Amino acid sequence: MRKPFVAGNWKMNKTSAEARELVEKMIAQLQDAAAVETVFCPPFMAVATVREALKHTAFGLGAQNMHWEEQGAFTGEVAPKMVKEFCEYVILGHSERRAYFGETNETVNKKLQAAQKNNLISIVCVGETLAEYESGRTREVVSTQTSLGLRDVAPEYARSIIVAYEPVWAIGTGKASTGPAANAVIKDFIRPAIAELYGAETAQAVRVLYGGSVTAANAQEFFTQPDIDGALVGGASLKVDEFVSIVKSF
Ligand code: PGA
Repeated sequence: MRKPFVAGNWKMNKTSAEARELVEKMIAQLQDAAAVETVFCPPFMAVATVREALKHTAFGLGAQNMHWEEQGAFTGEVAPKMVKEFCEYVILGHSERRAYFGETNETVNKKLQAAQKNNLISIVCVGETLAEYESGRTREVVSTQTSLGLRDVAPEYARSIIVAYEPVWAIGTGKASTGPAANAVIKDFIRPAIAELYGAETAQAVRVLYGGSVTAANAQEFFTQPDIDGALVGGASLKVDEFVSIVKSF
């Protein structure tokens, strides 16, 4: 049984003070939602404050990115062990990182290796752009991102990875995919790519989320699909009622 998982990716939103207010309101309403693993991913500057607010709770904390090097002359970057000091999770290869900050399947994999070394649970994002979708390249893109991004970790670590299928055309557009379409990509392209790397059992054990314009209104459509284990939520994770209701849709 794969435990349901919902993560809120706040992206570059909320100061530390605003983050504290937001997370406190959310956790107050999520006390009875223990069946769903719920993780907050605030911007780096708010991580310590949110950690304080989550103390003595079962909610998880994640970073939105990190560098793969352990330390050194990398101005502006954050090292894995700095993330690990506060967080249990890290989002890797989000499409915005790929599109605006030059991340590739190779750098995503380097970060995955670093996450393994530092005992961080990775949430690895994959997904095709609109142009790739329209030219029928979804299978090729998503399979390649999965095989190259997830390769070369220990089998036990591979089982802990969380994959987020986020079609780029659905992110922040209000145009979500559909339950059946997202389920098919996960079942037919993502799990088989994982199976090729780590075997069928691991491919079934890995949790795969859907992300892209998930709202309280459409969450259930995704959560009732057999191969979708939860959601990576962007815009709606900044709204208390929306996010609470998404988590409670399971
Ligand atoms: P969205 O973002 O929910 O605002 O579409 C999802 C994401 O980028 O993780």
